[in-house]
Amino acid sequence: MTLSLFDAEENKRTWQEPLCDGALVLRGFVLDDETKILAALEDVLAQSPLRNMVTPGGFRMSVAMSNCGTYGWVTDRGGYRYDRMDPESGNAWPAMPDFFAKLAQEAAAQAGFKNFEPDACLINRYEVGARMSLHQDKNECDFTQPIVSVSLGIPAMFLFGGMRREDKAMRVPLAHGDVVVWGGAARLRYHGVLAVKTASHPLLGQHRINLTFRKVN
Ligand code: SIN
Ligand code: FE2
Repeated sequence: MTLSLFDAEENKRTWQEPLCDGALVLRGFVLDDETKILAALEDVLAQSPLRNMVTPGGFRMSVAMSNCGTYGWVTDRGGYRYDRMDPESGNAWPAMPDFFAKLAQEAAAQAGFKNFEPDACLINRYEVGARMSLHQDKNECDFTQPIVSVSLGIPAMFLFGGMRREDKAMRVPLAHGDVVVWGGAARLRYHGVLAVKTASHPLLGQHRINLTFRKVN
């Protein structure tokens, strides 16, 4: 089902594509803000550069990561966790730009999740060939709070599965400017990203950037 709507208040055109109960794709939701987002990201990444973290099992992730906000998601030989400190710099993560939080809150509200106040923004950068295997986002305290996921740059195939890893996953193509929101009954669904195919984007070259907003505490 595709629902087209014109958001008069925001003066922008976006398309909603429900995935299942509690999950929705907002097509083109951040397109008008692309320049502002990329400029703010440059600033954040100058303070906490992207790096390829190591999983608890000892594998280096193909996706390069950083964070902004009070909490940052990290992984190392000790496990997955949220940390207030960037382990590379020894400093707090860069602040989350106010308009990032506002965009995430607006996206969440479109999906019916009111007053979402993210305190973590994971920044994922995919090169061609990078992928993310199926996982649940479950290191957060309050599962009534949704996940808001912003896609920028070259396209990717998002996998949106069920409550068990072996459940068949939907394939959802995501393009520059799209936002996926999942929460409620869908909050703990497995999800991942297939290996990104060769492509080029006018602003990001051969890269895809994903911003994942969460309320950790
Ligand atoms: C994630 O689950 O952290 C990333 C999802 C994406 O890159 O679209
Ligand atoms: Fe995730």
